[in-house]
Amino acid sequence: MLQEAKTEEQKLAEFEARVGRGEKVEPGDWMPEAYRKNLIRMISQHAHSEIVGQLPEGKWIPFAPGFRRKLTLVAKVQDEAGHGQLLYRAAETLGKPREEMMEELLSGKAKYANVFNYPTPTWADVGVIGWLVDTAAVVNQTMLAQSSYGPYARAMKRICYEEAFHIKQGYDIVVALAKGTPEQARMAQDAVNRWWYPTLMMSGPPDTMSTHSEQALKWRIKTKSNEQVRQEFIDLIVPQIRALGMDVPDKDCVFDETTGHHRYTQPDWEELRRVINGDGPCNAERLEQRRKAHEEGRWVREAMATPSRNGNRQKSIPVS
Ligand code: COA
Repeated sequence: MLQEAKTEEQKLAEFEARVGRGEKVEPGDWMPEAYRKNLIRMISQHAHSEIVGQLPEGKWIPFAPGFRRKLTLVAKVQDEAGHGQLLYRAAETLGKPREEMMEELLSGKAKYANVFNYPTPTWADVGVIGWLVDTAAVVNQTMLAQSSYGPYARAMKRICYEEAFHIKQGYDIVVALAKGTPEQARMAQDAVNRWWYPTLMMSGPPDTMSTHSEQALKWRIKTKSNEQVRQEFIDLIVPQIRALGMDVPDKDCVFDETTGHHRYTQPDWEELRRVINGDGPCNAERLEQRRKAHEEGRWVREAMATPSRNGNRQKSIPVS
């Protein structure tokens, strides 16, 4: 039967059957409008997170202790910019113009990951972001690599590959500090203490408070719930923290023999709500920096949009 001759119900039933069989949905395929909208929302927020995520660590590039640390940090921050580009491209395949996404970010309308609104006062923060935050990101993104939307799932595979290196980079910094002088060990512990709850919040609110999970799970945009992802992260990271002789900043975080998982204290969900709605410790600073970078990159975008003498112009205009 021709696609046009089918009713909306038939198209939806076929779409859900395809997704249920684990097939990928590709840009030209029929998809429910709500699926497209949910994906654009999530992918654009994810792209913004990668772009803003460069800032808290990027600040430390001039102060990295030594040439090798500086090289790896530069490479890492550059990777995050690349992830942002990949994700903006994935969102564009769903019909969302890149300029519109930029406008939403710079105007403060768009959300991006809560964690990037916290300060990075010490070098240990760079290590802990690479180790803790990127481990949480990889647990989430490994799940998203199974997403039903082909371009998103494929972008995730590439991103996870690079994030796995970021974790090693962060872990190496933390190991050096944890095994260093007492002052360095204290600095590492202090960073773990400050990043613990924001990192737990990264996986999203509890399932009962999540607005989009039910639909996202039904259509396999996400393949695990927020709580499943958070639990997986905790089970993975807690033994690593203890193996370094450090404390988990939650005295109630204990392994429960009956469930086979660690119990943990819930983060302050009101804090998450505030931070993702613009009222975190560094929201204003982050957006200000992005606006400045965007303005400084204007001439590059304009130059690329100007036709050359043979009449060609760049097809895709990069985001600064
Ligand atoms: N940071 C920022 N916003 C968050 C968030 C977080 N840690 N957790 C939830 N939110 C936002 C959601 O985006 C949503 O906002 P919206 O309705 O204005 O779009 C709202 O809070 C309700 O959350 P929920 O219904 O659970 O959203 P969700 O199904 O999209 O799940 C994530 C939230 C973060 C788990 C999901 O969007 C995701 O996996 N995103 C891709 C990964 C990513 O962005 N990583 C960034 C770090 S690299």
